Amino acid sequence: TSTDTFYDQVGGEATFHFIVARFYEEVAKDELLRPLYPEEDLGPAEERLRLFLMQYWGGPHTYSDQRGHPRLRMRHAPFKIGPAERDAWLRCMRIAVDEANLDPAHRDQLWQYLEMAANSMINSWF
Ligand code: HEM
Repeated sequence: TSTDTFYDQVGGEATFHFIVARFYEEVAKDELLRPLYPEEDLGPAEERLRLFLMQYWGGPHTYSDQRGHPRLRMRHAPFKIGPAERDAWLRCMRIAVDEANLDPAHRDQLWQYLEMAANSMINSWF
């Protein structure tokens, strides 16, 4: 219905679960990104990104219940994120989003947000 959120329209938790799991499969293989993640187990990071995106797009607020205000730029400050890291992040995410088979309008809306968000996370220009 017209009151459905984007989260509902794209298939709810299952869709976000697919995208973020697929994204972290690529991160695990990425020489630039993998060393940035402090924990050996990527599972907890996967859960945090999944819950954040679910909340952002109108799903349950579990992310903020557990983590508080997102403050994503602040939370990324410990990691050197330059244009190369942004490009690697978006490359992994592109594979995940493409494989989720969203309809084109939803896919474009999600992608536009992810590109903007990835650009806004840059904290180093070398
Ligand atoms: C956390 C890297 C962009 C959302 C993290 C962490 C790293 C990282 C290393 C710590 C892992 C952990 O949670 O333990 C990067 C890099 C990016 C990027 C290299 C390249 C631009 C983004 C974007 C978003 C995002 C665009 C949102 C759309 C998050 C969230 C967390 C996180 C929600 C967990 C925050 C928390 O609650 O502690 N990221 N990230 N990241 N990232 Fe990113």
